[in-house]
Amino acid sequence: MARAIDLDVVKAEIVRLTRPTPSTLFGKGTAATLAELIAEEKIGLVVVDAALSPVQQRNLERRWNAKVIDRTGLILEIFGARARTYEGRLQVELAALSYQRSRLVRSWTHLERQRGGFGFLGGPGESQLEIDRRLIGERIAKLRRELDDVKRTRALHREARRRVPYPVVALVGYTNAGKSTLFNRLTRAAVGAEDMLFATLDPTMRRLDLPSGRKAILSDTVGFISDLPTHLVAAFRATLEEVTEADLVVHVRDAHHPDSEAQRTDVLAVLADLGLGALSDPESAEDGLIEVLNKIDLLDEDTRAHLENRTQRNEEVVLLSAVTGDGCDRLLQTVQRRLDSGIAAVRLDVPLSDGKTLAWVYEHGEVVARRDDDRAAHLSVRLSEADLGRLRHRQRLH
Ligand code: GTP
Repeated sequence: MARAIDLDVVKAEIVRLTRPTPSTLFGKGTAATLAELIAEEKIGLVVVDAALSPVQQRNLERRWNAKVIDRTGLILEIFGARARTYEGRLQVELAALSYQRSRLVRSWTHLERQRGGFGFLGGPGESQLEIDRRLIGERIAKLRRELDDVKRTRALHREARRRVPYPVVALVGYTNAGKSTLFNRLTRAAVGAEDMLFATLDPTMRRLDLPSGRKAILSDTVGFISDLPTHLVAAFRATLEEVTEADLVVHVRDAHHPDSEAQRTDVLAVLADLGLGALSDPESAEDGLIEVLNKIDLLDEDTRAHLENRTQRNEEVVLLSAVTGDGCDRLLQTVQRRLDSGIAAVRLDVPLSDGKTLAWVYEHGEVVARRDDDRAAHLSVRLSEADLGRLRHRQRLH
């Protein structure tokens, strides 16, 4: 997790605690051994994968002369570094402040604000701001109001998007699985003027061009993290609302990660929690998610061959490398097949003089056959029901 925000991990160690010491969590001996290591290696930050009380945190910082954060602090940093939408940033700041407030044991404390982060990584001596509970409370109230506004706007955006007749494909996955890399690769070609519409609405949504020429919207989401502290769950859920609205969900996995299977279980549990349990149900293949096994460029030949063998007959699993682009074509084919399933081909006659409608048909459907006579184009087109309705409406207007 620390590497996820580019921290340089000098050493990682499991420390046995027979009994937690109230003042420093670690016993005297362990704290001293770690102090030596920290001084020797000139370590600036220590991440403790447990919950530290504010007193423990302060005592350890003094003892070790380094910044100390716990699991929640690190997760907030990751969220802070990765939140790309205005709403995401508000959510993270709200969670960070609630966390800070819960840690104000006495009436005064120091909140360090620097580098646009939330202060957990700041060092002593950097610009410090003394804020009491009341000030934090006021800021929290203000953030809540802003968030309400953003949510209202987002509902409007969603409405606007519904009127744009493109299906939404959402990428989900454990943090660091490679979602953003894949998102960028798949949508790289699509940065024309019309995409500005989406880009300005939300940087996590972009146009996706499918092989048939059909278009979709690809939506990137925040990465999952297991054992999310309870007060972060709400912030996290809000950012995942988009997933429940998607037409198709693509689960991106890091095939190279030693905990890949456990991560998969965690992600599916969160999806089930969002009411999307059916996605992982093998019985409901039609609505199920597509699974991407990413980072295959990092696998040795044997592992890769083994995976290829295992997934050969399962069309819903795609082996891929977002970095090299290997497998991306297959993913697009799979996405297209899934979006097209349930769409029947219809026969249409469009007057050759009606270039606009012809263009519309080519943009929204997949033309599987075409025969022209002097007056009209006779087409066989695969078109969604919604699009078919729109087309009929269009033709009635003519
Ligand atoms: P979160 O934002 O935390 O959810 O992460 P993410 O899933 O968006 O992951 P991201 O795309 O940021 O990739 C994480 C790291 O994995 C980056 O260092 C990528 O360069 C690397 N990565 C992604 N895909 C591949 C791949 O196919 N091969 C290799 N070798 N590295 C990859």
